[in-house]
Amino acid sequence: MKQFNAVELVKQAMPLEVKHQGLIAWVTQVATLTRPARVVWCDGSQEEYDRLSAQMVEAGTLKKLNPAKRPNSFLACSAPSDVARVEDRTFICSARREDAGPTNHWIPPVEMRDTLQGLFDGAMEGRTLYVIPFSMGPLGSPIAHIGVELSDSPYVVTNMRIMTRMGRAVYEVLGSDGAFVPCVHSVGAPLAAGQADVRWPCNDTKYIVHFPETREIWSYGSGYGGNALLGKKCFALRIASTMGREQGWLAEHMLILGVTDPAGRKYHVAAAFPSACGKTNFAMLIPPQGMDGWRVSTIGDDIAWIKPGQDGRLYAMNPEAGYFGVAPGTSEKTNFNAMATLKENVIFTNVALTDDGDVWWEGMTDTPPAHLIDWQGADWTPEIGRETGRRAAHPNARFTAPAAQCPSIDADWENPAGVPLDAFIFGGRRSTTVPLVTEARSWTEGVYMAATMGSETTAAAAGEQGVVRRDPFAMLPFCGYNMSDYFAHWLEMGNRLAASGATVPKIFCVNWFRKGPDGKFVWPGFGENMRVLQWMLGRIEGQAGGVEHVGGVSPSYRDLNWSGSDFSAAQFEQVMSTDAESWREELLLHAELFAKLHHHLPAALIDVKAQIEKRLAA
Ligand code: OXD
Ligand code: MN
Repeated sequence: MKQFNAVELVKQAMPLEVKHQGLIAWVTQVATLTRPARVVWCDGSQEEYDRLSAQMVEAGTLKKLNPAKRPNSFLACSAPSDVARVEDRTFICSARREDAGPTNHWIPPVEMRDTLQGLFDGAMEGRTLYVIPFSMGPLGSPIAHIGVELSDSPYVVTNMRIMTRMGRAVYEVLGSDGAFVPCVHSVGAPLAAGQADVRWPCNDTKYIVHFPETREIWSYGSGYGGNALLGKKCFALRIASTMGREQGWLAEHMLILGVTDPAGRKYHVAAAFPSACGKTNFAMLIPPQGMDGWRVSTIGDDIAWIKPGQDGRLYAMNPEAGYFGVAPGTSEKTNFNAMATLKENVIFTNVALTDDGDVWWEGMTDTPPAHLIDWQGADWTPEIGRETGRRAAHPNARFTAPAAQCPSIDADWENPAGVPLDAFIFGGRRSTTVPLVTEARSWTEGVYMAATMGSETTAAAAGEQGVVRRDPFAMLPFCGYNMSDYFAHWLEMGNRLAASGATVPKIFCVNWFRKGPDGKFVWPGFGENMRVLQWMLGRIEGQAGGVEHVGGVSPSYRDLNWSGSDFSAAQFEQVMSTDAESWREELLLHAELFAKLHHHLPAALIDVKAQIEKRLAA
């Protein structure tokens, strides 16, 4: 039998552009450990994408959709156990436990490295190791950073090609000594000689591991998006947040949108919401009837990298090149622009298949098709759905689509300098207590609002759904370091902004999800959120009215533009009301959070809490 020779395997197919000895040495080291059957250096070409897609169709991982309905698009259905991010298997292995903080899972790096050595030993046997070079952000932009993912999943390669700037040009930008974040990924399912593969290889044991000091990512056992597309949550949020702390910038779980008023004035807003709380819908909003002349354009739908520009202002850039969005609930009514983005060149995951080779998910149309193949490959009819409660698509089913296909894409979405920010918005999913919109009276009060934000959990992560948990800055699962230090970093960024004399973005808190006594959402949401956005811009310009209360400043009914709407003052009261009792209960939950985060918790935030309590007592 021929001896396994990693050096030969790595060098055999290496493109001429690869000049980086550190990269070659690292790929060789990982190949030596994982012992793949082949190594492929990805070039990011359409030909490569087509070849891998065809291979996956052959293997049963992908289904090619009807080209007349959904050109160049595919459906992947995962193993039923591999459908969401696994937060309880996600680790921040900083040298010191306190640097990971109480909101992250931590294991000493030496111990974790030992575990990973064991897991990755021979993990890629019988499979191909793909070298995936990618840039988060437009290649060469001062805001962008490079990563290289080594993965044994062709599904990861094709998704990464949509989600990042991936391919040959990255090797050139890297040159012989450029910096990159090394990301290693295996589905954890080695193949013995002659062993048949399964449709969706993965492993019940899962580890999503970050070493912040060495900026390394190791992911084992899952093929699902947020666990396997390592440029996204692992790099662009967890590792990048630690880079931002060191280098004076921010990596945030935020959409970025442009909004142009009827006079042609343009503003830019970044907004943080927890997973599956409508970031993609908000980023692609179409203003409702009665708000003619307003226009929203999309810069990003999930992640923002925000750096101070030459003029001291904060500039935001979307490091991604595609959308990995939640499909259920997306329709022409709720997000027309997303549906238009999904017309072609899409990878769908865990949605249902129609009899004519297209896709469907709950909420796509009012009436479901008479027959479908559900995401687990079983027959599904509306009757079966009613009788068994089984859904046709998994609630966390996803689409991976190129951002450039979005009709509302902003002309500046790839501007290497980013776009200047006028406001930050923070929003959770709360059926009660939190009003539709509140403006913070100061940067510090805004940081407090974001830090204490609560939200009901969704299907984006494995675990119980619908329970309120504190999700500071919508970063609970994504902050790569101690959350209290992260708050301090935000306060410090505010101080620097103020000291530079630059315009400081205003901070707002929103809640689209208040429910009435009938258990239904009161606020219509979607396009109607434009009314709230207009109020915010009015506040920035010092033109819109507002009423001060214990937690900040909110509009009264007459302060919003209701043209074209029949939303009544009584309904408005339902989405705005907060009584002293619910504030007191909410503050107890803030106290609980602060007790958990007491180590390094900035005194300025404790002061804000004391001020709110004083106002409440008065
Ligand atoms: C996502 C998430 O996939 O937040 O964006 O889970
Ligand atoms: Mn997200």
